[in-house]
Amino acid sequence: MTHAKTIEPDTANFEPIETASRDEIQALQLKRMKWSLRHAYDNVARYKEKFDAAGVHPDDLKELSDLARFPFTAKADLRETYPFGMFAVPRQQLTRIHASSGTTGKPTVVGYTKNDLETWTNVVARTIRAGGARPGDLMHVTYGYGLFTGGLGFHYGAERVGCTVVPMSGGQTVRQIQLIQDFKPRIIAVTPSYMLNILDEMDRLGVDPHSTSLEIGLYGAEPWSEEIRSKIQGRSNIAATDNYGLSEIIGPGVAGECIETRDGLHIWEDHFYPEIIDPETGDVLPDGEFGELVFTSLTKEALPMVRYRTRDLTRLMPGTARTLRRMEKITGRSDDMMILRGVNVFPTQIEEQILKDQRFAPHYQIEMYKDGAMDAMRVHAELAPNAGGPESDAAKAATASLIKAIKDMIGISVKIQIHPTGGVPRSEGKAARVIDNRAK
Ligand code: DLL
Repeated sequence: MTHAKTIEPDTANFEPIETASRDEIQALQLKRMKWSLRHAYDNVARYKEKFDAAGVHPDDLKELSDLARFPFTAKADLRETYPFGMFAVPRQQLTRIHASSGTTGKPTVVGYTKNDLETWTNVVARTIRAGGARPGDLMHVTYGYGLFTGGLGFHYGAERVGCTVVPMSGGQTVRQIQLIQDFKPRIIAVTPSYMLNILDEMDRLGVDPHSTSLEIGLYGAEPWSEEIRSKIQGRSNIAATDNYGLSEIIGPGVAGECIETRDGLHIWEDHFYPEIIDPETGDVLPDGEFGELVFTSLTKEALPMVRYRTRDLTRLMPGTARTLRRMEKITGRSDDMMILRGVNVFPTQIEEQILKDQRFAPHYQIEMYKDGAMDAMRVHAELAPNAGGPESDAAKAATASLIKAIKDMIGISVKIQIHPTGGVPRSEGKAARVIDNRAK
């Protein structure tokens, strides 16, 4: 059940592109794509080498579908040219650098010219407005400030909308709650997993989440199931939208849900051109089919991205609240996919089963380990507060039904370990869902 208020879209502040015809959008995309491919080819040695090796030249792009002839870019290209090798402008022309911590050691470094920062601010402002923000709103930002693009990205976008921004960053949860009570923000920008942590902490402190001033939550930066959305909305009066982005493409502000529909994320296609490909063959799939999301930047100066493989899995859908196409909520990244006896499993699938059962708290971690030569999975979970300790009969019954629910879904039995309340690590930003102990 949701107690969230109905929030009307801020139609007076729509940008013309948000309601442009498909023909207008595509004409703009083609013009910008020609510029972007040329810019990448002329200024980044790596792109020139890759285009030449594939036998394509920017002049070969006559229509949007010709993009399929161009080679993909992957995280490895950024890693191998670390730190500044993919930049299309001299370092002196960069106004800002951000980085995301990679799993393999070196961070992924991204850079922005002054114009890129302007574009970024505008697309985040558009996202925030789509999410229901109005000039004069107070916004509490818990996304991390620093090298992560979440904090500063949301910050400048919110200022552009005309909001009053509280740059709280992540952590210090008790203090966050204090400031929410004292400053009375209407909007919170936060990862879904951290919001669940904040809600728990409010319960512990005796603060009723329904009694706060918060009406809108701008969630993002990690995969989250619809079950988490209902859980958050059920425990508060906060309307939840999904917001997507990645550093390589710009940061937050690539796509966002509209408050009036909340039916998938409109992609700001005038700056970021999406394709869905078959991750195995690399073939472009028609809209509506499920596959890996690939982006080509259309206006970025410092770090043009040509067919960047995001590893995020989704599908493209026609526009609804805006004419710009939508992407479905991301259920998983190919990087997070676990293979158990030949069956592909995503953390969000396990999450759905845990959250469907009211006996469980919405916090979990998945541990992968070796059982002899086989990969095996142990789910670390907690019961809801006051639902019983790890050794209780209630825990035994809940464990048995979760094992069955997961087995019904993926056909494989997993182990469940119930921890005391607070025993599963809490998120203060992006949640670490999978712990890989297979090498141990
Ligand atoms: O997470 C940018 C961001 C900040 C987006 C704040 C939204 C809010 P990175 O750290 O580079 O950038 O991580 C990008 O996070 O490829 C997805 O796998 C995941 N991700 C981001 N937003 C969502 C979302 C930021 N709404 C990676 N749903 C992406 C699912 C998301 N996954």
